[in-house]
Amino acid sequence: MSEQIGISVNGQAHEIDVRDDESAVEVLRERLGLTGTKLVCGEGVCGACTVLVDGVPLASCLLPATALDGRTVTTIEGFGPELHPVQRAFVANDALQCGYCTPGFVVEAIAFHDRWRSERGTEEPTREDVIAALAGHLCRCGAYVGIIAAVRDACAGRFDAADPPAPRVEARVKVTGRAIYTADVRQDGQLEGVILRSPHAHARVLLLDLDAARAVDGVRAAVDLLDDERVVRYVGQEVAAVAAVDRSTAEQAVERIAVEYDSLPAAIGMEAARDSGAPQVYTGLRRRAPSSAEGPLFPARWRGNVRGPSSFSKRGRAARRLLTQARADGDPLLVEGRWRTAAQVHTAFEPHACVARWDDGSLQAHVSTQAAAHLAHQIAERFELPEERVRVIAEHVGGGFGAKLALTQEIVAAIELARAARAPVRVVLGRHEELAVAGYRPPAELDLALLASRSGGLRALSVRAHADSGVAVGSSIAALCRFIYPAPAIELLDHDVVNHMPPGKPFRGPGAPVAAWALEQAVDEAAHRLGEDPLALRRRLDPDPLRQRLYERAQGLDVWRGRSQTGLQSGRFRRGVGVAAGNWVYVYQLDCTVEVGIEGGRLFVATATQDMGTGSRSVLADVVGRAFGLESADVEVRIGDSRQLRGPTSGGSRTTATIVPAALEAVARLRAQIVQALGLRDAREDDTGIRHAAGSISWKEAIASAPDVTAVADRPGDDHTASNAAGPLAGAGPAGAVMRWAMRRSMTLEVGRGSTGAVHVSEIEVDTMLGKVRVLRVAAGVAAGRIAAPALARSQCYGGVIQGIGYGLYEQRQADTRDGLVLTAGLEDYRIPGIGDVPEIDIHFMEDGFEHVPGGGVGLGELSTIAVAASVGNAVYNATGWRPRELPIRPDRLVAGLS
Ligand code: FES
Repeated sequence: MSEQIGISVNGQAHEIDVRDDESAVEVLRERLGLTGTKLVCGEGVCGACTVLVDGVPLASCLLPATALDGRTVTTIEGFGPELHPVQRAFVANDALQCGYCTPGFVVEAIAFHDRWRSERGTEEPTREDVIAALAGHLCRCGAYVGIIAAVRDACAGRFDAADPPAPRVEARVKVTGRAIYTADVRQDGQLEGVILRSPHAHARVLLLDLDAARAVDGVRAAVDLLDDERVVRYVGQEVAAVAAVDRSTAEQAVERIAVEYDSLPAAIGMEAARDSGAPQVYTGLRRRAPSSAEGPLFPARWRGNVRGPSSFSKRGRAARRLLTQARADGDPLLVEGRWRTAAQVHTAFEPHACVARWDDGSLQAHVSTQAAAHLAHQIAERFELPEERVRVIAEHVGGGFGAKLALTQEIVAAIELARAARAPVRVVLGRHEELAVAGYRPPAELDLALLASRSGGLRALSVRAHADSGVAVGSSIAALCRFIYPAPAIELLDHDVVNHMPPGKPFRGPGAPVAAWALEQAVDEAAHRLGEDPLALRRRLDPDPLRQRLYERAQGLDVWRGRSQTGLQSGRFRRGVGVAAGNWVYVYQLDCTVEVGIEGGRLFVATATQDMGTGSRSVLADVVGRAFGLESADVEVRIGDSRQLRGPTSGGSRTTATIVPAALEAVARLRAQIVQALGLRDAREDDTGIRHAAGSISWKEAIASAPDVTAVADRPGDDHTASNAAGPLAGAGPAGAVMRWAMRRSMTLEVGRGSTGAVHVSEIEVDTMLGKVRVLRVAAGVAAGRIAAPALARSQCYGGVIQGIGYGLYEQRQADTRDGLVLTAGLEDYRIPGIGDVPEIDIHFMEDGFEHVPGGGVGLGELSTIAVAASVGNAVYNATGWRPRELPIRPDRLVAGLS
């Protein structure tokens, strides 16, 4: 059924035929091309689709298109051409990262601002006023701190005049809704692809008949996505896909696909998979197991569904002996126990998406990816194409957090469908697909034992980790426990327990928050037993000079000095303060080349990396601009296209550590070329300009008068003669490159010298009656060397802290262990932190220690999140005397623990 409606959108009248099952957001995006309005949750929870209807902000995903008849709609594109004060304030406060939630926030904030100003003038709203006004909006990147500041600033009239400078170079296109993400791409003749997924956790597919689907009016192609084994191993596994003229037709056609399954016994979850009679997930085909790791897979034995252990041992037998003896003696300095964590889903706001098109045997794919260059290589391999015939474009990416590093099935589906249909095909996952099958941080069980001493370092450490990555393998949790607290006897064992659930994927600091949850609480417990200040104990156990200074700084914080003694409080509400430390490896990608050049008198920098909200675009603009005494806005940044020279994948906090040194090297070469091109004699250059025999010239003038010229440079090696406060990575090689490995032909990673460090101090309040924990403030000390783009680095750390709070308190994917169905199907069920959950966050950067790295700094995206949940756990212990051992710290667990 359809009906004609008349609407005015952004001042333009439209008469449109709409179906009665169409939502307002679909009409705005797909019919009118107003893609600034984003579809994220589809159930009115996140606010990304907010538009003004007759001046009132409404979630357009819940609004039937027919309800728009006779109404006036304003979308984000309807503001302008001048920026609204709210937009200016968002730009100035860096109140965005990936930008996918930004238009919804901006529209709602403009409505609030205009109302506030008409009623209250330039009185500044409180933090609570703003939180209440924006409570219906979510941001997965955690840009809330900047958002609150921006709205307060705008209401106070601080941005009524001219446009402010933008710390993030693409901020303007994001606050105006003009940034085009993969899910927004629309090409002539484009079809919509929908995937048919397995309803079974384990089954053999006996028959797959696509004819009935192909016969549906409007269907242009249907493809089989199964491999030659014809077995599905989890609910939601991709079976087939259909492309049709619109999504609704494709969905109807998918229903018509005939599939005959032979259902097989399934093992859902770790417990079932470890059972002696459990059905085997892989029988002789273990190489098919996908990897949940960011690095290489190390060989390990299999026993049934258990792969492992992969181990790191240093006098492992001695560790076992010492711990057994301590157990027998009842040594109070032996801390041991089992800690558990839950599956945390990445939940990037832009879903996995691909728009593929073939032209004369060449493939162009817009993809929401963290790895444009690497993905082009993977696609070329998978489809047996010369690499020069594959182009991957990722101009703006709406978050990833580790879930978009590889060639995944929605990309394969779009490419196959586009080839079969001879037309461009877009495949965009729905939110349920995103939450169910697109990746998660594997839950784990850790048995940890550490033996402390009354003076000196740890005596022994043992960690045995079992991770549940579904059908995937490659967890590395226990292994990460060797990097902070050295001990003479260590045994670290990692196991994967494969089972019939979707594959886990790397997620921001893969394995590290899980390891920290157990290790940092065990160290806290040791301090309690020793009667020692937990920070003082860490200073005794951890030799890293950077973290030593972070501990010292944390000891001086008022929040730390004012904490109560553990377990002495009474009453319903109790406050606690906890600390935890984290580290992350310094890694960079060797095969990266950056081009810096002048074209038409304007400076540009180019490499095939991408910006998923972390700020790599701005880092390049800042670094290159600074080297020529220019503003970042004076530099054109060309990224997000695999046709550029090879650039790094955005994973493992390697992007900044890779692109900055290469960019600086290219800058040095370009400066020399400019001098030569201008024929300047006796030239001496610095960051402001060139002094030469006939006078001096600024870089701005030199660039304007230079001919088109470019310089390229690979990522140079580090300077190992430089002083290095960070020292070698604990437990690894002595100097120089600690480790190098090639990830297929397209990527060689190197673990550099020195590891980054963080110390988080969290203050919380516990409602002992309802079991709720509220984080009041987090002070994060971060040591990752010189900060390339300070405002953006701060934003990223805020986001890391907020995701860590989510991991600690709320986030848990739930599945039915009988049939493998993921039950947390939407953002209503899967709770991520909202604006009201955000504490006061103080970020302190310690900027030395990486002088051996050209540019002086390395990445910090993972570092900022690793220790947060553990610090909250320790704060709960400090407040109540009860130690949480299972994540998330849910109200029911807390109430049960206290009783
Ligand atoms: Fe809010 Fe990325 S900036 S979801």
